[in-house]
Amino acid sequence: MQESTPRYNIYAVIHKALRAMMADALIRAGRTDWQDAADRGETLATVRGLLDFCASHLEHENDFVHAAMEARQPGSSADGQADHRVHVNAIRDLCDQAAAVEALQGADAVRVGEALYRSLAVFVGENYEHMHFEETHNNQVLWSRYQDHEIMAIEHAIRASLPPQENAVVMRWMLPNVSAQERALILSDMREQAPPEVFQGAMGLLRVHLSASDWQKAEAAVQSAGPSPLAAAA
Ligand SMILES: [Fe+2]
Repeated sequence: MQESTPRYNIYAVIHKALRAMMADALIRAGRTDWQDAADRGETLATVRGLLDFCASHLEHENDFVHAAMEARQPGSSADGQADHRVHVNAIRDLCDQAAAVEALQGADAVRVGEALYRSLAVFVGENYEHMHFEETHNNQVLWSRYQDHEIMAIEHAIRASLPPQENAVVMRWMLPNVSAQERALILSDMREQAPPEVFQGAMGLLRVHLSASDWQKAEAAVQSAGPSPLAAAA
């Protein structure tokens, strides 16, 4: 039966960030001239940044989300954990492929670079399916065992655990790639919780990445924002 009030989706905005980051890296890899050292270097930095972020993201899910699922429904995170073990191996293989490309020149660099692109596409495809599993199966477990304010507290604990550099990556990919309503909540939370220079940095980032209409909505939301539900759960 459909619930009348939507439940809190702990994955919603971070997965939008991750999907956008993955799409950007994959498109960039597909366009790369593997014989051009500068172009290749930029692509490999982007791919490595994505892989580092993915490795960290799945650890947060293991430590906070899966742990919460297991605490109230033992065994409920087993399939997700198995996916994560596959992803850890895939990340290691992609890192090895990136290092191999870097050591090659000419036609060999093209051959291995294009193989890296195809492997990255498979990794991205698997992750898109995996994120859907998390937003359906895992959320059903969380929603049946936890109240929304408890789920928000789990998300807050994850955010509080992020080092500043990782948090900056999250904001870079999350803020421009969520809906205007989701963005308004994040900005409201950030204005209350983060140092003023961090909030101003986020607004500067948005000015560059948002359309005129989305920028207008973000500015209006900041001017009229009240306390966010996430801040209240802290
Ligand atoms: Fe995951």
